[in-house]
Amino acid sequence: LGGSDMYRQQILDHYKNPRNYGELDDPTFTHEGENPMCGDNITIDVALDESESTIERVAFHGDGCAISQASASMLTDRLEGMAIEELEAMDRDDVIDMLGVDISPMRVKCAVLAEKVAQDGYEIYAGEKDLDQTTTEE
Ligand code: FES
Ligand code: FES
Repeated sequence: LGGSDMYRQQILDHYKNPRNYGELDDPTFTHEGENPMCGDNITIDVALDESESTIERVAFHGDGCAISQASASMLTDRLEGMAIEELEAMDRDDVIDMLGVDISPMRVKCAVLAEKVAQDGYEIYAGEKDLDQTTTEE
């Protein structure tokens, strides 16, 4: 991991003490995805508000490397209160900005796994995507 110590500490802290870890009792949708290169996986539960335009609560669980799990933890913090449109607009650069460190090309899939799982989960729920289209390929 390149980048400043502060950001590296933040990633390690999220890895060791993941925020919003677990499952929701009443998710609007839940989705699991894996990084096909290593088999590491993340499941994200999302509860939307009544109008289904805003994310109210998020939880995740999974097994994987520090970057994938810290990215999931940081993402869940950020998603709470976010408009669903903002989630749909997120891309890999937003995730890399959020992490605040240099991510080598090899590790980009680790970094974006959680974001892809959250977006795919919503798109499947909204009928915009079929299950068999969900991979973490960019
Ligand atoms: Fe294997 Fe991240 S894809 S190192
Ligand atoms: Fe598997 Fe990073 S090595 S997600």
